Amino acid sequence: MRQAAAAMLALIAAGPARADAGLATLYTWHCSGCHGAGGHGVPAAGIPDLHDAGSYVALPEGRAYLAQVPGISQSQLDDATAARLLNYVLARFSAGSLPAGFAPYTAAEVGLLRANRASDAETRRAAILAALKRTGRLGDSRDYINPR
Ligand code: HEC
Repeated sequence: MRQAAAAMLALIAAGPARADAGLATLYTWHCSGCHGAGGHGVPAAGIPDLHDAGSYVALPEGRAYLAQVPGISQSQLDDATAARLLNYVLARFSAGSLPAGFAPYTAAEVGLLRANRASDAETRRAAILAALKRTGRLGDSRDYINPR
């Protein structure tokens, strides 16, 4: 109890100067168990590194896919929070691969995409990555396809 109170105080003390603190905490609770604190995932176990996900939004199907992965689409988070968390994850881990002029996800967009959940994420992901490589948006040198 005292520890929880101390954690709350630390969050409050961090205050507006760190507007992202709430999102960082949500990431820790909802996402880091699989994708890791540093967002590197466990590619060998089929859990993607989040550092290249930014490049996917260059393609409409890639943009849709990111909001439809189970971590987002099946979470208990409301649409607005899910959208903010997705934007946060992209900015935190893959700002470098986001296309210029990236328009952040909105609650309405995530709501629509979630309602139409992706089936077979793995196949869709492989198609998106192949298209990104074909159009030179993703280097060939690294293996982004999960080896499972
Ligand atoms: C139970 C493990 C698990 C949790 C928890 C999880 N993810 Fe994922 N995530 C995956 C897997 C596995 C994939 C690959 C697609 C698939 O197979 O569903 C993925 C794919 C993604 C992708 C697309 C990256 C790519 O290269 O395909 C993003 C972005 C993402 N997750 C974000 C999140 C966020 C944000 C959260 C927290 C709200 C989250 N995930 C929670 C396992 C997880």
